Amino acid sequence: MTAKQTILQLLQQTDGYISGQELSSQLNITRAAVWKHIRSLRAEGYTIDSVTNRGYRLLHSPDLLSPESILAGLKTHTLGKRVFCFASTDSTNEEAKRHALQGVPDGSLFLAEEQTQGKGRLGRVWTSPPGSGLWFSVLKRTCLSPLQVSNMTLITGLAVCRAIRAQTGCPALIKWPNDIVIGSRKVCGILTEMAAEVDKVEYVIPGIGINVNIPSFPPELKKKATSLQIEMGKPVPRLPLLLAVLEELEKALDAFEENPLAFPEEYRQLCVSLNRTVKFFRNGREHHGRAVDISSEGELLVQEEDGSLTPIYSGEVSVQGIYEESF
Ligand code: BTN
Repeated sequence: MTAKQTILQLLQQTDGYISGQELSSQLNITRAAVWKHIRSLRAEGYTIDSVTNRGYRLLHSPDLLSPESILAGLKTHTLGKRVFCFASTDSTNEEAKRHALQGVPDGSLFLAEEQTQGKGRLGRVWTSPPGSGLWFSVLKRTCLSPLQVSNMTLITGLAVCRAIRAQTGCPALIKWPNDIVIGSRKVCGILTEMAAEVDKVEYVIPGIGINVNIPSFPPELKKKATSLQIEMGKPVPRLPLLLAVLEELEKALDAFEENPLAFPEEYRQLCVSLNRTVKFFRNGREHHGRAVDISSEGELLVQEEDGSLTPIYSGEVSVQGIYEESF
């Protein structure tokens, strides 16, 4: 952490005032250097009160997604401990891949205010307008096998769902495999990419797109997409939500890596696709059935009209259903 990040963290952790002397001795820098960092934080939008003989006190933090603001508030061990923020980039998944080749550490976070070529699942485009969403990817180096990794994408969805529920109180649910929906409209999508050989994964990149403060959608998307601002009727601060997602994600991925065979029951409880009629495409043919369960490998088990049970793998087919139903 830089001196400025540490100062911000100390200000955030202190209820009242913290003296310039204390900051300078904790960081082993001069009082003038402390003052320079305080000035720079103020220029970024932090409101910091200063009172002679008492010191500094943080009154307000802007909803700023910067390495400083993220690192100052983040309570993870590894995930997000190295942060790359971009005002604009093609896709944070592509940034993660490019940086993975340069050897950046496990857990690195890639975040953009805007993506010019945001990618969705199944070759779709993911619209990522500036400043209104959380568009980010993490680089996860792992010893899991390529087969086990497919569950990682479901678990990422579970972590995001938990964080949205905890931070906003919105009744977010998971549409298998990993869309997050509120009511019948999608608020978050996840695209997981990986680099692997036949039996060894080099890295996995879960890329997460959350529609946070998008005020409205064009008519063709209105029935399918929503944002947290639309659901809450007011803008939602992005930084605390990002921190909550990273913390939930680290917890969920650690538990999964420790015991890859234990598929979390909570996923089934939050999965809106279960006990509903779904439509899927396989080998160019449309199939209908009732989603009855999720296997421990993360497949959606669909009971077809002839009674047969068909496992569907994430990434294999497009499952439709909940957008057509009203519930
Ligand atoms: C989907 O629902 O189709 C997946 C959407 C994934 C979007 C995120 S935004 C951050 C990351 N970068 C991308 O280009 N895509 C993912």
